[in-house]
Amino acid sequence: MAHAKLMDGVYARQRHIYDLTRKYYLLGRDRAISELTPPSGGHVLEIGCGTGRNLIIAARQYPDVTFHGLDISSEMLSTARSSIAKVGLSERIRLACADAARFDAGELFGRQTFDAVLMSYTLSMIPPWDQALQKGISVLSDNGKLVFVDFWDQSGLPGWSRLVLRKWLDLFHVAPREGLGEVAHDFAMQHGRNCLFDPLYRGYACLGTIR
Ligand SMILES: C[S@@+](CC[C@H](N)C(=O)[O-])C[C@H]1O[C@@H](n2cnc3c(N)ncnc32)[C@H](O)[C@@H]1O
Repeated sequence: MAHAKLMDGVYARQRHIYDLTRKYYLLGRDRAISELTPPSGGHVLEIGCGTGRNLIIAARQYPDVTFHGLDISSEMLSTARSSIAKVGLSERIRLACADAARFDAGELFGRQTFDAVLMSYTLSMIPPWDQALQKGISVLSDNGKLVFVDFWDQSGLPGWSRLVLRKWLDLFHVAPREGLGEVAHDFAMQHGRNCLFDPLYRGYACLGTIR
């Protein structure tokens, strides 16, 4: 599939320096993990889990919860697999290769719903991001919660820095999603849920919670 190939191309080398470099600009990820608050014995899915960085932090934060991660890039998943094995969490974190816009959770993980779903800096890399968000909401259990964190409109930053940031994100096929807040709110309503949406760091990023 073309998008899988593109993502493998972006990350084939980047995955080796990903965790070291991204901690400086994928802001708000730990806050999103803290928002997950799954119940004891619960199940959490990260859509677009990349190197497994968030899954490992979350698994340590919520020690009696089982984690599941999917990603379209087999390159990223191979880094995730070895990082998770290295810290001895392979029993509690399951991984699968799949497209966020059209996956079958039952087939991948043997369950249809999750107590919490995380989408961290993923919507900005998925062309049909609205379908992926719908899909994420559709696999929530009744009391489940979807948390997303991503680049936002940078409206509080100086014009020149917005321009530089956009050009730089283009290089990685990343596009902040205009209208993410409104779309998330509409989708939440359609599913009988609420959406809280907060700009972070002067609009550099945003954090959303659908429950
Ligand atoms: C910027 S990384 C974020 C990784 C991780 N969530 C984090 O916060 O560090 C974006 C991830 O989304 C994945 N991705 C992009 N398009 C996808 C799709 N259609 N389905 C599943 N994963 C996708 C990429 O392969 C990549 O691993």
